[in-house]
Amino acid sequence: MSHDGQLNAFTASWLTQVSFTPPLVALGVRKDSHSLVMLQRGRVFTVNLLGKEQKPVAEHFVKPATTIGEKLKDVPYRPGKTGAPVLTDAIAFFECEVREIANQHGDHALVIGEVVEAGVHRDEPSLTLMDTGWHYGG
Ligand SMILES: Cc1cc2nc3c(=O)[nH]c(=O)nc-3n(C[C@H](O)[C@H](O)[C@H](O)COP(=O)(O)O)c2cc1C
Repeated sequence: MSHDGQLNAFTASWLTQVSFTPPLVALGVRKDSHSLVMLQRGRVFTVNLLGKEQKPVAEHFVKPATTIGEKLKDVPYRPGKTGAPVLTDAIAFFECEVREIANQHGDHALVIGEVVEAGVHRDEPSLTLMDTGWHYGG
């Protein structure tokens, strides 16, 4: 995501499509994360899909930002159409503009984004949660 010239990124698994027309995706985002604040302010994000060999990249983005921008220092990226970072080594990406942020009651916000740009860098299978052996649950 991008806000006021600052960039951040985090590893996410709670993502799903929620509309064909317009193309919308919903992302569950921890309310105590740095990323939610940036999404509320900057209103843009990129979903970068990683390849099977890129678990270390996912591991890198799991840690909370100590300083905003610091997690992207050693990872190649370019600013996308929305300004949010497109990771150069990701296999594919889609860029979104935030249309709604909901879920007053839960510990994660539901961030609904409209896909405004997308691309494929390499036509390869993506890294899944199952591949990592990790889980994201309470
Ligand atoms: C396997 C895995 C999946 C995750 N999925 C999500 C997710 O869907 N949404 C979320 O908010 N955090 C998720 N996280 C946690 C974030 O990556 C983590 O809270 C990160 O530190 C947030 O960074 P930030 O504070 O810089 O925003 C996941 C973590 C792991 C290990």
